[in-house]
Amino acid sequence: MRVGVLTGGGDCPGLNGVIRALVRRGTQEFGYDFVGFRDGWRGPLEGDTIPLDVAAVRGILPRGGTILGTSRTNPLKQAPGDGRSGLDRVKDNLAGLGVDVLVAIGGEDTLGVATALHAEGVPVVGVPKTIDNDLGATDYTFGFDTAVNIAMEAIDRLHTTAESHHRALIVEVMGRNAGWIALHAGMAGGANVILIPEKPFSIDKVCEYVESRFQTRYAPIVVVAEGARPVDEGVSLLDQRLDAFGHVRLGGIGQLLEGEIEKRTGKEARCTVLGHIQRGGTPTAFDRVLATRFGLQAIGAVRNGAFGMMMSLQGTQIVRVPLAEATREPKLVPPERYAEAEVFFG
Ligand code: F6P
Repeated sequence: MRVGVLTGGGDCPGLNGVIRALVRRGTQEFGYDFVGFRDGWRGPLEGDTIPLDVAAVRGILPRGGTILGTSRTNPLKQAPGDGRSGLDRVKDNLAGLGVDVLVAIGGEDTLGVATALHAEGVPVVGVPKTIDNDLGATDYTFGFDTAVNIAMEAIDRLHTTAESHHRALIVEVMGRNAGWIALHAGMAGGANVILIPEKPFSIDKVCEYVESRFQTRYAPIVVVAEGARPVDEGVSLLDQRLDAFGHVRLGGIGQLLEGEIEKRTGKEARCTVLGHIQRGGTPTAFDRVLATRFGLQAIGAVRNGAFGMMMSLQGTQIVRVPLAEATREPKLVPPERYAEAEVFFG
């Protein structure tokens, strides 16, 4: 049995833990042979591979990123110019390399391509990944816990400098459509305002709250997810570039708030954008364990011929769900979660 492995989409801490578990169990327990594909779907599209054996995965558990590389290449949008579709080219390359099963580790976009490939008869097993934690078919994905801890530590540090300078400090965190990182890091870090994509906010109300915080001896900390948007007319963000899956490159909401808070309250405001720091570096213990469990179970699914399935954490159990479910409904922060927090949500 020859198993191909790829990691697609934005990287996140824990990807190497999945690869390591797949290869170790697959080789040592089942006698499988592995081939790594470089840079997400670009690898199978172009037949670009990397050797993958037990020696190659030694020592990678604490390492962030992915030893396979990643990209947002979308084979469903590629027309190589030789009459074949991108998907056909992937299929031909897999067959040419003698790959019997493909394990795709990725988020909604990567698993969407995996779903399409499986529908065309290719044996595929999926492992969910996103630091945003917004994949519907699993309670958690690895990478999220690491990102939340990084953001929480940043908020802890910003409290003391905000108080010393009597400034409003704004922290922009990742979260395209879902505010899970902002919610968890904001709650864990004791932020005063949390702004998330699920709940459009009024800048005036945020400013009122910021001013009321200054009446006390505390300086306000505002956590804003990059995808959060004001209801106000006439304020807009600059960057509108799209990636291969049609997503807008986000950013700028923290900067916008900095300017609006200063203008409307007369108080000094400063913004810190955490950006890719949240995705880099070593995974937390929680993420290492989850990634390892996903990897072990995914190669078990290969062994059982459970193709077209994705690993999912439900409660404390890892179960298999149809790949198509992973991409069906995004998991957003429900209103009851922000209603219960003693924080201002805009
Ligand atoms: O989808 C995960 C994510 O980290 C989002 O939170 C963010 O908008 C996006 O990826 C940024 O990705 P990149 O900068 O790698 O294109």
